[in-house]
Amino acid sequence: VDNRQDFKVADLSLAEFGRKEITLAEHEMPGLMAIRKEYAEAQPLAGARVTGSLHMTVQTAVLIETLVALGARVRWASCNIFSTQDHAAAAIAVGPDGTPEDPKGVPVFAWKGETLDEYWWCTEQALTWPDSPTGGPNMILDDGGDATLLVHNGVQYEKDGKVPSPDTAESDEHRVILQLLTRTLGENPQKWTELASEIRGVTEETTTGVHRLYEMQRDGTLLFPAINVNDAVTKSKFDNKYGCRHSLVDGINRATDVLIGGKTAVICGYGDVGKGCAESLRGQGARVIITEIDPICALQAAMDGYQVTTLEDVVETADIFVTTTGNKDIILASHMAKMKHQAIVGNIGHFDNEIDMAGLAKIPGIVKDEVKPQVHTWTFPDGKVLIVLSEGRLLNLGNATGHPSFVMSNSFADQTLAQIELFTKPDAYPTGVYVLPKHLDEKVARLHLDALGVKLTTLRPEQAAYIGVEVDGPYKSDHYRY
Ligand code: NAI
Repeated sequence: VDNRQDFKVADLSLAEFGRKEITLAEHEMPGLMAIRKEYAEAQPLAGARVTGSLHMTVQTAVLIETLVALGARVRWASCNIFSTQDHAAAAIAVGPDGTPEDPKGVPVFAWKGETLDEYWWCTEQALTWPDSPTGGPNMILDDGGDATLLVHNGVQYEKDGKVPSPDTAESDEHRVILQLLTRTLGENPQKWTELASEIRGVTEETTTGVHRLYEMQRDGTLLFPAINVNDAVTKSKFDNKYGCRHSLVDGINRATDVLIGGKTAVICGYGDVGKGCAESLRGQGARVIITEIDPICALQAAMDGYQVTTLEDVVETADIFVTTTGNKDIILASHMAKMKHQAIVGNIGHFDNEIDMAGLAKIPGIVKDEVKPQVHTWTFPDGKVLIVLSEGRLLNLGNATGHPSFVMSNSFADQTLAQIELFTKPDAYPTGVYVLPKHLDEKVARLHLDALGVKLTTLRPEQAAYIGVEVDGPYKSDHYRY
């Protein structure tokens, strides 16, 4: 393979800018850098062929180069059509030792503003290893489960000997997947079966992807072991919460520059992401209202001082609406029809089905206009305008640059340790879904304390015995909720 051909990014000349930002990010990612140092000699990922499907940002670049530093070979795609930072993708393709004329980096297939066809083509490229015996990876690192889904669907249809007709697809995206798999079945009726045979496991980044994995485990269709990275405490209680606290307002500001103070903002969902989003907007002086279906989360929101009510109650009066549920059909076209002039509508959950964009487009006489990429006005026949961010896709990555480095250092340290676990201990993880062992979760937190000047108290042995833990941890039972 000519490595110079084996990638697709927007513009290689952005590599120098990307490299500068990667260098700045490395300082803010002490967890990943400590792991590089710790495992430099042992090379635990030597022999690993990691296919990654995760937002191709500057922080992800530091993750990719950490996996490489641990011995892995890597191929990468983004997990969202709008989330790639083109300078980060360019720097990864060029590599630390290459130049735009002579790229020597990692095969990466990602650019900001892919079509759905291009998106799934990129995912397929990341999964296709020209020089491997099976034609595929032996590890997957996923965010939202799209790479895992493609492999599982491919294997299923090869078993069936046929792919459902693309005419039966439930959505544009589903149609693209069915077309892709129809083509591969024609080219090689065993492509995905062969490819899956050597995959030792997948490490999954987010709530929505984890949900898909547990469904496959329940249905008995899961093909290989999985580590649920999301439910590491140092992931969901940090990235989902503090990451969104940073990147939600960043996205709204870059998209609209509207003053948030004094406005009324509705956050749908008060899980980890919703908690961070609510705090983010309250911090800017917005009056924040929560909608929830879960009485526990609704009570939490109330105790945190937020009004909790239904969307229907506030849809006509609020200024900003953000969905954070990981559920579908949260803001319907009928809701949007009732919103006030210049209301802002956005989603920060993983998939774009939280806001009914298709229904919005079908309102008779409605006109869509682009203000700038990922910011659109929708003008109703009566002249009312709504501002919709990132076409209903996650706005913190579409309109801004996602979470900052320090919080992603936690998530990606969890990812890296999970990759090492599954790759080096296949016998310890029969097919199933696991969370990261607690001592590794605590290790990831520990790696981030010095940078913030945190002084930890050391347990005395008598104290450790009294509360029934080891001096070096783990300090909590598995059911402790933090
Ligand atoms: P979670 O499960 O902790 O929270 C979701 C909340 O939404 C739950 O409390 C649930 O009761 C509530 N909910 C469900 N249906 C609802 C409805 N119809 N109306 C109101 N509330 C409803 O999940 P988490 O971790 O907060 O993740 C949410 C989504 O965000 C997922 O899709 C996840 O993958 C994604 N995510 C996005 C990130 C980003 O950077 N954009 C970062 C982390 C996660």
